[in-house]
Amino acid sequence: MKRLYINEVAARDGFQIEPAFVPTDTKIALIDALSLCGYAKIEVTSFTSPKAIPMLRDAEEVMGRIQRVPGVEYTALVPNLRGAERALESRADELNLVISLSETHNLANLRMPRERSFAALSEVIRRVDGHTPINVSLSCAFGCPMEGEVAEGEVLDWARRFAELGVRGLTLCDTTGMAHPAQVSRLAEAVQARFSQQITMHFHNTRGMGLANVLAAVQAGIERFDGSLGGLGGCPYAPGASGNMCTEDAVHMLGAMGYDTGIGLAQLLQVARGLPDIVGHEVPGQVAKAGPSLTLHPAPDYVAELRAQFS
Ligand code: COA
Ligand code: ZN
Repeated sequence: MKRLYINEVAARDGFQIEPAFVPTDTKIALIDALSLCGYAKIEVTSFTSPKAIPMLRDAEEVMGRIQRVPGVEYTALVPNLRGAERALESRADELNLVISLSETHNLANLRMPRERSFAALSEVIRRVDGHTPINVSLSCAFGCPMEGEVAEGEVLDWARRFAELGVRGLTLCDTTGMAHPAQVSRLAEAVQARFSQQITMHFHNTRGMGLANVLAAVQAGIERFDGSLGGLGGCPYAPGASGNMCTEDAVHMLGAMGYDTGIGLAQLLQVARGLPDIVGHEVPGQVAKAGPSLTLHPAPDYVAELRAQFS
């Protein structure tokens, strides 16, 4: 059975766009429950400016109080050197650096030109010096809601610049759900042909293409995916952003197709069903509502009568 590796981003990408603050204890309880579900990685929080992302202003406390389960990597999003210092003090297993491949989105999201982000992140990579693994999330890799198309050559060029700095992983992020399966296949093949880094795909289901994109990526050989429980999520600095590819829907689909995600679906669904209470509204995920495809329902009583009648 082919093994795939899932990184749960609900506590970061999922929560950062939610209007009502999720209490610290609730975040910790959710992450602790997720830690028992079989994930390869959990993105716990982000070490960003608390003014920019007030929801994640409790990053230190959350990182400090979660129960770490051996075998699960606990990562955190980091936009700059200050964020990296905070993440390292909080003993993050991995730093997930972020830069947008669209100049406009980088200015909107990180308040600096891409080259300045690159210089700051290069400095982080130099200082970490291989002591903590580094992943770089390349936002808007499949298109920008303000600039439109992002050329494949540009994506590969930024990926190369970070690969040359020796990072362990690169994530191609479809920040606002603009990617389509043919584009995913092309880009997946291009990055895998050029780079030996771990390649992760991060999809949003903004236009209903999340699972189709996962499938295209898997078929092109990609083994790592970000997903968000319940399909929560979105970037506060991307117009029209909405939820990530829903983790439990993907785990359900991939499991049905014979892939091993390492995740226990029943346990995951139990956690997912608690999400509406946590965020105070319905969530987009579908399998938590419908149940897995092989959960059978009793036939109506008259079916037995008809069976007898026609036998
Ligand atoms: N952690 C905590 N505080 C930070 C910080 C960090 N990583 N980086 C900057 N700050 C603080 C500074 O101390 C300063 O505080 P002050 O106003 O009390 O003096 C303030 O934020 C502004 O600092 P500055 O360096 O001028 O940053 P900025 O205003 O240019 O913002 C970012 C840059 C990246 C820190 C900020 O835009 C940010 O955190 N954005 C969030 C991006 C994000 O998470 N988007 C969604 C996910 S992709
Ligand atoms: Zn995202």
